Amino acid sequence: MNFHRNHWLLLGTIFFGFIGLAFIIAILPAQWVQHNTEPLPEAEPLSDIEQRGLEVYIAEGCVACHTQQVRPLPMDQPWGRPSAAADYALLGPMDVWRPYSPAVLGSARTGPDLSNIGARQSSKTWQYLHLYNPRSVVKESIMPAYPWLFEPAATADGDAPVVTIPEPYAPESGEVVPTPQGQALVAYLLSLRQIPIAGAGGMADAESSEDGQATAGGGAEDEQAAAKGETLYANTCASCHQANGQGLPGTFPPLARDPVVLAEDPSEHIDTILHGAQGSTIGGTEYASPMPGFADQLDDDQVAAIVNHERTSWGNEAPTVTADEVADRREAGGE
Ligand code: HEC
Ligand code: HEC
Repeated sequence: MNFHRNHWLLLGTIFFGFIGLAFIIAILPAQWVQHNTEPLPEAEPLSDIEQRGLEVYIAEGCVACHTQQVRPLPMDQPWGRPSAAADYALLGPMDVWRPYSPAVLGSARTGPDLSNIGARQSSKTWQYLHLYNPRSVVKESIMPAYPWLFEPAATADGDAPVVTIPEPYAPESGEVVPTPQGQALVAYLLSLRQIPIAGAGGMADAESSEDGQATAGGGAEDEQAAAKGETLYANTCASCHQANGQGLPGTFPPLARDPVVLAEDPSEHIDTILHGAQGSTIGGTEYASPMPGFADQLDDDQVAAIVNHERTSWGNEAPTVTADEVADRREAGGE
């Protein structure tokens, strides 16, 4: 046993030592997790089109800027509940050449975490506009544009959805349709929804604990309520209606000077936020894409804060509402 003279002994010890350690600290734990993790009961495998979307997600390198893992840290709370092993249990090998699960977890977060993007931004139209050119919906976005996932409306077959791109981002044709890859990618993005785990804490928990801190401070409550309305609006509504309440011409209606927002009776305003809306003609423009409902996502206090922000901003002056009025409308169930 002389490591100085017998180099094979030295090499062998290092080699088998490495393999042994790899087994103990990496391979066996991974296998244990693999065999002891069940998908969540409501989890469904990706459909064919969503699976193709995952391919596009990987091919386009979205993982360079987006994670799909929410850490149990306060700074991660806006993205959803902390991720669990069960969230990835259905993610299998892509094909024989890639016998491992795709690396969608990511490690760099230049853009937001996407674990729950399907719930946070469920509008297909928004997703298409954003992919065609992120600046068309988020002015200050630094995300690259993906125009090759679209083609001019004239050249596409009948089934593909037509997307009207706002000025000044519109191509000459004004309208585009997503390619099959573009459609698959958006189907995949919309499939990314966290399934609730009891007690795991999510966006609602995070926000109510923040509220708790805010009210504990006492003092100028009106100002706090206004700031809360502004923040909630920025996080939940501004992606479509824009921070300045001007909307996007032809796609998302303006809320500045909007009759529903200015109405004396706030019922329709509250109902629209709770239950969403679709197909209305507002100010002579017909809006084809739906507005999602937020009944599950926002509590009565939060809806009231947003309603009041809209009723008192961008030159709007309309009577404000209380959380109790929102509770009544919620009770009425959109009737
Ligand atoms: C260079 C970094 C970068 C790359 C690459 C990138 N993104 Fe983004 N992404 C961002 C940033 C920054 C934001 C936040 C600003 C915005 O909404 O545009 C964002 C926002 C998003 C959002 C909205 C998230 C939210 O919470 O509102 C989605 C969806 C998204 N990206 C999807 C994608 C997809 C799909 C790809 C690949 C085709 C991709 N991104 C590639 C940087 C990137
Ligand atoms: C995905 C994009 C999107 C998001 C996010 C969104 N909206 Fe809308 N909103 C729309 C669209 C599209 C319409 C028009 C719906 C229709 O045809 O009735 C609309 C309509 C409205 C209307 C009614 C306007 C009228 O005159 O009928 C109000 C009020 C409103 N939204 C408020 C909000 C608030 C508050 C939020 C945030 C909680 C929000 N919206 C989030 C897209 C969106």
